[in-house]
Order: sequence, then C-alpha cells, then structure tokens
Amino acid sequence: MNRIAVVTGAASGIGQAAAQRLLSAQWTVIMLDVAFDAGMTALNDHSYTLRCDVADRASIDSAFSQITDRFGAPDALVCSAGVLRIGALADMDPTDFDTLYTVNTRGAWLCARAAIQAMRMQRSDALRRIVFVGSISGIRPKVGNGAYGAQKAALHILTGVLAAELGGEGILVNAVAPGTVDTPMIRANSDPGRTGRYRPSGTSPLGRVATPEDVAAVIEFYLGEQSNYVTGTVIPVDGGTRGAFIPASA
Ligand SMILES: NC(=O)c1ccc[n+]([C@@H]2O[C@H](COP(=O)([O-])OP(=O)(O)OC[C@H]3O[C@@H](n4cnc5c(N)ncnc54)[C@H](O)[C@@H]3O)[C@@H](O)[C@H]2O)c1
Repeated sequence: MNRIAVVTGAASGIGQAAAQRLLSAQWTVIMLDVAFDAGMTALNDHSYTLRCDVADRASIDSAFSQITDRFGAPDALVCSAGVLRIGALADMDPTDFDTLYTVNTRGAWLCARAAIQAMRMQRSDALRRIVFVGSISGIRPKVGNGAYGAQKAALHILTGVLAAELGGEGILVNAVAPGTVDTPMIRANSDPGRTGRYRPSGTSPLGRVATPEDVAAVIEFYLGEQSNYVTGTVIPVDGGTRGAFIPASA
C-alpha cells in the first residue's frame, strides 16, 4: 500500500532522518521546510520537497492545499520543524520567546490542524497518524532553556488532548521527546565562544548523545501497525538521561 507522509523540518536533522527512514520503508514523503525552494519539487516518484514556513498560517494552508490536490489526504504527519532560542528567563528577549511559541508550538498545531482537516476526508479505516517532535526539556526542564522547555511541554499537552479529541475518528496522535540529538541545531548553539551556549540535557547512561536516526526509528514505530493501540503518549528518546540524576563525579 502506498502511504503518504508529510514531514515538516525535513531539510535537516531529525525531520530529514525521519523522511529518509520512511522513504526506505516505501512511504511517499512530502518534505516541508522553510529552507526548501517554493513550488513542489519531485526528487523522484516518492519524494517531494515544498517550501513551507510553519510560522505562517497562509504558507501552511497553501502547502496542504497543494498536497491534497496532488496526493489526496496524507496518512501521516510528522512535525519536526523547530527552532532553539537559549536564555535565562529573566533576561531573555521577548522576541525569542515569541519565535519559540510561533514555530515550535503554534506551527506544529497549525500543521496538525491542516492535516486533520484533510484526513477527515479519508476513509475512516485508513491508518492515520500524527507525531510531534517534543523534547525532554518539556518533561524535565533545565536552566537557561526555560522558554523552549515550556513550549515543548505545551506541545506535549496538545498531543494528549488532540489524541483524546480524535480517538473516535481513528486518528492517533503521539510525540517523541528527544534528549540531546547531534543535529545542526545543537552544533550551531554549542560554540564555546557563544554567550548562553547550549548545554546538553543530561549525561546519558548509554554513553553518547542521540543520532537523528535514533529518533526517526521511534517516529516510524508511531506510524506503523505496532502502535495501533497507542495514542496520546510522549516517548522519551533520551538515552535514559531522565531515569536518574548522575552526579558529575560518578
Ligand atoms: N537536536 C536536539 O537535541 C533536539 C532535542 C529535542 C527536540 N528537538 C526538536 O527536534 C526538532 C528538529 O530539530 P533538529 O535538531 O533536527 O534541528 P535542525 O535545525 O537540524 O532542523 C530543524 C529544521 O526545521 C526547519 N525550520 C525551522 N523553522 C521553520 C519554519 N518556521 N518553518 C518550516 N521549517 C522550519 C529548519 O529549516 C530545519 O531544517 C525540533 O522541533 C527541535 O526542537 C531537537
């Protein structure tokens, strides 16, 4: 069966890895990102790119309208588009706070809203899934990253409520909550010379930070039949950093 997934933030990091994994599993994938060129570009018969700015409702509506016109309703949506803004809450620029909310929370919700409207036109026995990329920061926040954590916590709440609201329609909604993942987002914010630089979300008992593929594997689980009875959940993909506090000298 040819299943269609829309992946936001697919030009980089976790979104890109999720798109690649789904392509390998024979999905047709429409990749959205603000970094892509305008207009739908076919990379091959199963993979397409389309510019979409999730901070802009008109851009989302236009993207989903082009998708449904060409492919019909998607079977799955993965919302990975996101930004990181670091700063102590007392000093942080309100513009950064607004950007986090507009992209990471409102943007993901608007994409889900557009996808749900399209999915509702599909037959109800179709496998319909939404996966948000939350963060371990939304479960166990850290200093210097409070606004980001708060927006990811909001996304986790939206996950549960959407799942409950849509359960009767057979649309399953879940989230992954990664710890530190080695992506351009983290590398760009880890420069030691930078003020307020990124600090990892804990020491993983597994002895390494996550790869984007570690997260993509759990996203694929949420899109498959193995998770037919799983909705409203947030799976930490954090290498156990949240399991127990590891003192620095241990
Ligand atoms: N890397 C980590 O350690 C980590 C940990 C937890 C959660 N996350 C979350 O994972 C998601 C992906 O992050 P990543 O680490 O892969 O980062 P990344 O920077 O590698 O990828 C993010 C992608 O989102 C796109 N994007 C940003 N703003 C956009 C917008 N307005 N509209 C459309 N696309 C936009 C970027 O162009 C980029 O391609 C984000 O939601 C992030 O908050 C990342």
